[in-house]
Amino acid sequence: MKVCVVGTGYVGLTTGVSLAFLGHDVTCVDLDQAKVDMLRGGKCPIYEPGMEDLLAEAAQNLTFTTSYEEAVPGADVVFVAVQTPSAPDGSPDLRYLRGAAESVAHALDHDFTVVVNKSTVPIGSGNWVDAILRDSFATREDRPEGVEFAVASNPEFLREGNAIADTLYPDRIVIGSDNPRSLEVLNRLYRPIINQTFTPPTFMPRPEDANAVPLVSTDLASAELIKYAANAFLALKISYANEIGQLAAKVGADITEVARGMGLDQRIGSRFLQPGVGWGGSCFGKDTKALIATASEYNLEMPIVKAARDVNSRQRAIAVERLQDELRILKGRKIGLLGLAFKPNTDDLRDAPALDIANSLLARGARVKLHDPVASERFRAEQPELAPYLSATIDDLFADCDAVVLVTEWAQYLELDWSKFVGLMRNPVVLDGRHVLDPERMRRIGYKYLAVAR
Ligand code: UDX
Repeated sequence: MKVCVVGTGYVGLTTGVSLAFLGHDVTCVDLDQAKVDMLRGGKCPIYEPGMEDLLAEAAQNLTFTTSYEEAVPGADVVFVAVQTPSAPDGSPDLRYLRGAAESVAHALDHDFTVVVNKSTVPIGSGNWVDAILRDSFATREDRPEGVEFAVASNPEFLREGNAIADTLYPDRIVIGSDNPRSLEVLNRLYRPIINQTFTPPTFMPRPEDANAVPLVSTDLASAELIKYAANAFLALKISYANEIGQLAAKVGADITEVARGMGLDQRIGSRFLQPGVGWGGSCFGKDTKALIATASEYNLEMPIVKAARDVNSRQRAIAVERLQDELRILKGRKIGLLGLAFKPNTDDLRDAPALDIANSLLARGARVKLHDPVASERFRAEQPELAPYLSATIDDLFADCDAVVLVTEWAQYLELDWSKFVGLMRNPVVLDGRHVLDPERMRRIGYKYLAVAR
């Protein structure tokens, strides 16, 4: 099938490259010429393991352009995956989405095109995009005859750092539209994934437990709500583990054991019960906020979702409190933070717990030192005020520190020979922000081991 993807950000690029890999004829359009040039050269503008390999394997079916006129005509499906940054009041800024919908409407020429909203947009945006498409199309002087289109929602559930596997081997595919023909087209587009009939990429064999993928084919509003409901549920699952973790610390229980014991109940499941400094990233914070905002338009409260957000902010504060309890005085103390990205295997710093923790320590008069194996460069550009605190090496981070906090559980930190660094510290305190270090081992080496929920 012929596919157009508007926007080569995280979601758009993953969608375009994966569909091209599956054999569809894909054209990605982005207004940023530099990005298009980079992609034409086989280079990936984002950090995502495997993406450049998949780009190479999909190259023959993949075109990059800055022109809608080159990308949209003839497309069976147009995915719109442009950025929806938060406006100052926290609501998503839909300017780019409007612009993209207008440009698509001016280039449509096919008997039937499905326009799929891939950007994370408030519930109800499908209808809004539909109206923009229809208005813009109606004002076209060169409007061709016999052109039909319909809007669909096809939420993505991909995790950064795992984007390719999450796309090729998903738990489910959700498509929603009030137009039956679009559901049929999208069903056909995703057949190779639904039936798992494609040959896996050379660098990523099919997991042994990969089965046929369930398809949820539903109406537009339900598909839009599924995305928010799922993300908010994951966020509150983590917050629940964190809330129980605080009680566990008080009663002398081990939250890791408690989470393991809970998670083995198949109705609960063991994933997303890992306690620590809490969730960050571009999705959970934004989506939970948007869900609350949408509900309030209908005079509905979302007390559970609100509580999940409150617990999450509290976790970051608790990390600082633990240090204060231990060191008594934070003024003048040197505290090292290991890990700046909001989670491992990404250089994404959006809503990263490390940023709040660093700022809060600085506000209390502590001196901070920061390290990340991958995100330092982006950090320097995006956080100029904190950039002077970056340490070039792990040795440098540990030197003379009064405490080191493991904020992001990069494999590199877990595999550190921690015994090499204990002697460099002024005060060998380690705060395990993710409950991933072995407390006994750390104590044997000579650290004073602290954790967010211990
Ligand atoms: C998330 C959703 O998983 C994905 O389905 C959605 O489409 C986008 O948002 P992502 O933001 O990439 O993906 O990160 P994810 O791997 O889900 O982790 C989110 C945050 O939760 C991270 O900060 C992580 O450190 C934290 N987390 C995760 C925990 O604190 N505990 C856990 O048990 C799991």
